[in-house]
Amino acid sequence: MSSLALGPLLRHVNGDSATIWVETTHAATVTVVAGDHRASARTFAAHDHHYALVELFGLTPGTHTPYTVLVDDEVVWPEPDSPYPPSVIPTLDHKPLRMAFGSCRVSVPHDESGTEAFGVDALRSYALHMATDDREKWPDLVLFLGDQVYADETSDEMREFIAARRSLDEPPGEELKDYEEYSHLYKIAWCEPANRWLLSTLPSAMIFDDHDIRDDWNTSWSWRREMEATSWWHDRIVGGLASYWVYQHLGNLSPDDRADDVLWQRIRDHEGPDELDITDAVDELADNADQKPDCYRWSFSRDFGTQARLIVVDSRAARLLKPEERSILDPAEMEWLDGLMTGGFDHIIIGTSLPFLMAPGLHHAEAFSEGLSNGAWGKIGARVGERLRRTVDLEHWPAFQQGFLQVADMTLQVASGARGTAPHTVLFLSGDVHHSYVASAWPDPAVTDVTIQGRIMQAVCSPIRNPLPKPMVRVMRAGTRKSVGRLVRRLAKSAKVPVSPLGWAVDRGPWVDNNLAILELQEDGGLSMRWVAGDIEGRATDDPVLKVVAEVGVPVNPRGQERPPA
Ligand SMILES: [Fe+2]
Repeated sequence: MSSLALGPLLRHVNGDSATIWVETTHAATVTVVAGDHRASARTFAAHDHHYALVELFGLTPGTHTPYTVLVDDEVVWPEPDSPYPPSVIPTLDHKPLRMAFGSCRVSVPHDESGTEAFGVDALRSYALHMATDDREKWPDLVLFLGDQVYADETSDEMREFIAARRSLDEPPGEELKDYEEYSHLYKIAWCEPANRWLLSTLPSAMIFDDHDIRDDWNTSWSWRREMEATSWWHDRIVGGLASYWVYQHLGNLSPDDRADDVLWQRIRDHEGPDELDITDAVDELADNADQKPDCYRWSFSRDFGTQARLIVVDSRAARLLKPEERSILDPAEMEWLDGLMTGGFDHIIIGTSLPFLMAPGLHHAEAFSEGLSNGAWGKIGARVGERLRRTVDLEHWPAFQQGFLQVADMTLQVASGARGTAPHTVLFLSGDVHHSYVASAWPDPAVTDVTIQGRIMQAVCSPIRNPLPKPMVRVMRAGTRKSVGRLVRRLAKSAKVPVSPLGWAVDRGPWVDNNLAILELQEDGGLSMRWVAGDIEGRATDDPVLKVVAEVGVPVNPRGQERPPA
């Protein structure tokens, strides 16, 4: 008899439709019942695992409808005796959008040793808070900005699973090898009861970052060649991207966008007596997407009426790495982004796992490393540059100057009103760097005569649970100092780094707590952001309360952000 193996996860939800993802133990028919609405889907198989994606249509906007999940007519969700409120489908209406976001979360126990090593899980703390909070105060969705799972730094529980099926002495040792190991990694990440409940009732969107595959994923051409020369990389990247398609990507898409996906069409249209097995097809998709980045798009976008356009950009798999064509986004991806960067929305929100605007000291260091690696200081300098960027993770947008400048130009055009009515905010949301901050940007009058309306901002929330080691906190804090920024900028100039039309500064943070952030749009076009963490002062490690780490209010600014006074 089949039952739930993982989930349910509430994924794409809008005013009148909802998508629910589950993994089951066997082939089955999965049914979701929400009030008068009922929809079913047959499972499909990948690598001997079984999944279903159930799409509900015709829902009423602005409602919270409790739902149940049935596997072959047996009710499997909610679980009997659950201490949490019923899982609901919260359809959108015209209220100002509220969105949680964050990145980088390890999945280790919430006992004393797990908490001592990795701190309090901000997502779980938020789940416990949500369970007792008024539903009207819940976010409309949560955006996970990368490193949802760590395929390279494994927990005791994950290593036990690996050791039961192969020797840890054989490559890739304690790292993940294939799809089967990924499926177990997702189970560990999403099965803890409070987080599982949150994922069942809070719609989610997700994009990968490096650790979903491996630290420094696609840093450079030489990194990639080194990986491809190993005996294990092919299975890892295929297993990583194939499982990403099943566990994370499929639910990101709206029903219309999903209907354009060729592999999803096969699943949706399957009618034979047996369950459809997509193992070969999803592996082929993953392999192709890795080898030819422009053949598949992991990025996605959605509009929330005219109040916001959310564009979630894949800044890892879409890279071109050969030195002669190095770019953080392949041309098709850049064109896709360019087409979506238009006016006519109150806010343009760009989710990218990697911060677009880093602290200036860190930005110029990354740009310098790319200049060095490209040979600005000769062959020896190129070797030093390559080693530098791989040793200290210089792999973000500024380490890909061409792409950075293209997106900076698009951003300025949108914010100036050259692409339709200028938004109040062009806001980049990011993670990855294990510290959180807010930066504001302006057109640099020494480089461009563009003037903007509204604001250009960067907000980062990282980590949800995986704090920065103390020595790295010192490096990061040094990178935010203005004097360091000016010094490294001179170095970058010497390595022929082009000048940016954007100037910017970190104006709040950095905060190094485990955090989840909540973005709230406001009726008048302003917005606010709040970083929250779990507090266990005087409490058991697994019983946190929520505390506010920082609050940032961003009123409407019709004159446009200008260079702040010196
Ligand atoms: Fe990362």
